Amino acid sequence: MERLRPDVIIGIDLGTTNSCAAVALPDGQVRIIPQRNGDAIVPSIFAIDDKGNELVGHEAKRQWQLNPRNTLYATKRLIGRSPRDEVVDSVQRSAAFRIEDGGGEVALACQGRRFRVHEVSARILAKIRDVASDFLGFRAGRAVVTVPAYFNDRQRQAVKAAGRLIGLEVVRIINEPTAAALAYGVGKSLRERVLIFDLGGGTFDVSIIEIRDRVFEVKATGGDIFLGGLDFDEVLVQRVLQAFQAEHGLDLSQDPVAMQRIRDLAERTKIDLSSRTEVPFSIPFITMTDDGRPLSLDLRLSRRELEELTAPLVRRALLRVERVMEDAGLAPGDIDEVMLVGGQTRMPVIQRALAERFGRPPSKGVHPDEAVAVGAALYGWSLQEDSDLRLQLLDVIPMAIGLEAAGGRMRVVLPRNAPIPNAKALPATNSVDGQQALSVRIFQGDDPLAERNDLLGEFTFDGVRPCPAGQVRLRMLFEVNVEGILTVSASDRDTGRQMRTTVRVTES
Ligand SMILES: Nc1ncnc2c1ncn2[C@@H]1O[C@H](COP(=O)(O)OP(=O)(O)OP(=O)(O)O)[C@@H](O)[C@H]1O
Ligand SMILES: [Mg+2]
Repeated sequence: MERLRPDVIIGIDLGTTNSCAAVALPDGQVRIIPQRNGDAIVPSIFAIDDKGNELVGHEAKRQWQLNPRNTLYATKRLIGRSPRDEVVDSVQRSAAFRIEDGGGEVALACQGRRFRVHEVSARILAKIRDVASDFLGFRAGRAVVTVPAYFNDRQRQAVKAAGRLIGLEVVRIINEPTAAALAYGVGKSLRERVLIFDLGGGTFDVSIIEIRDRVFEVKATGGDIFLGGLDFDEVLVQRVLQAFQAEHGLDLSQDPVAMQRIRDLAERTKIDLSSRTEVPFSIPFITMTDDGRPLSLDLRLSRRELEELTAPLVRRALLRVERVMEDAGLAPGDIDEVMLVGGQTRMPVIQRALAERFGRPPSKGVHPDEAVAVGAALYGWSLQEDSDLRLQLLDVIPMAIGLEAAGGRMRVVLPRNAPIPNAKALPATNSVDGQQALSVRIFQGDDPLAERNDLLGEFTFDGVRPCPAGQVRLRMLFEVNVEGILTVSASDRDTGRQMRTTVRVTES
């Protein structure tokens, strides 16, 4: 390979189930980075074996069935979340590893040790970095990392923190569907409006993006960070458990090894049913009866049954598509291409539903597993001093940002789909005579009640001038940068004094 600079910026797609990296070569061509075995995908799995060895990727996946309690997977669903978040319970219900409260942060138990979620992401990032370094012939130090468009500020910050932990400079966070649009549109001199339908292992994103040659403008985005292939698998798992219970009167859900075998086969069966209409579902000796008789699982599943069982999930995704079109003020006829991204979009019923809605089959213009990493690498390349590629990304925030007002209402400061970067100033005052500090709680989400949204933090402005109530004139400034990350500051409008801002993520 010729003249790759040591300050090259690689692109990393940090997926819920699979991660992948790519790099632009000096001629602007993008290469997916393979591991030594030639495989481009690093499973986003971390484990510790009985001997205390830390395993990441394929190595971790290989021993998963035998060591389910110490194998951490799909941890992206937990990043940047509070341990009291109700989604934590729902993840715990289907995960064999233990989720704990690590003092305001989610912690994961693994072989008697405890990891914060971003520490697990850091290990996956480190693995990808090492694979990339191997490929490049020098240590990769800088990356553009993608996140779901529907990630909030806290989740974005956690990904940056993961990079910092391993000394990987995350030069820029960009949104996964936006990255996919780059993979599709860069270098083609397009004038098109595309809808990116990105259904991966853990999350669903939909973005409408206008491409004008090198300008990529997101008109609206939406999604669900709890809708992905894992949920399709789970539906099949439940179906199989019920069938076994009906036949043998036994509940397998409390047996982690049996569950792991069922989960693995459920995913493989789901994938097979994308190309076949009926497949067997058999696991020999899944358990034993009380009197020592071995029992096996022996079923057949059809595509039609899978489609019926998962119809509510598909409906949820399509409803999001409608909302995003409404937010953008567009009708199906205004969309030039519907682009499929993410492994789960290979399911035929999803392609059929989109074809019906948009009156033409979705485009296969990008590789559903690689587009996000490719787009991130292209963006990384455009940020390098030595490149002649100049790209303009105009993105938006996925959910409103606001503060808690009287009665617990959400006072929206920046509405959903507000373009970024963005800044908005708000006047504020003291509510009590002589008040010296002003605290506000900042939330992100679209619910009218602040508490039902995600708490980003409590911001306290110290050093308010002692005055009678209502006399201090403060100006609070909310700034969201190009990465969708928020900073809040405040100043006294009479003295011009800038005030210290402390950010604390507290638990409600
Ligand atoms: N042929 C197929 N039919 C149905 N589902 C499939 C097929 N191939 C892969 N999948 C599913 O796609 C999912 C993985 O997709 P992908 O690799 O795009 O996700 P990810 O990038 O890890 O997750 P995310 O983008 O949500 O963080 C898995 O749930 C997998 O079972
Ligand atoms: Mg993905």
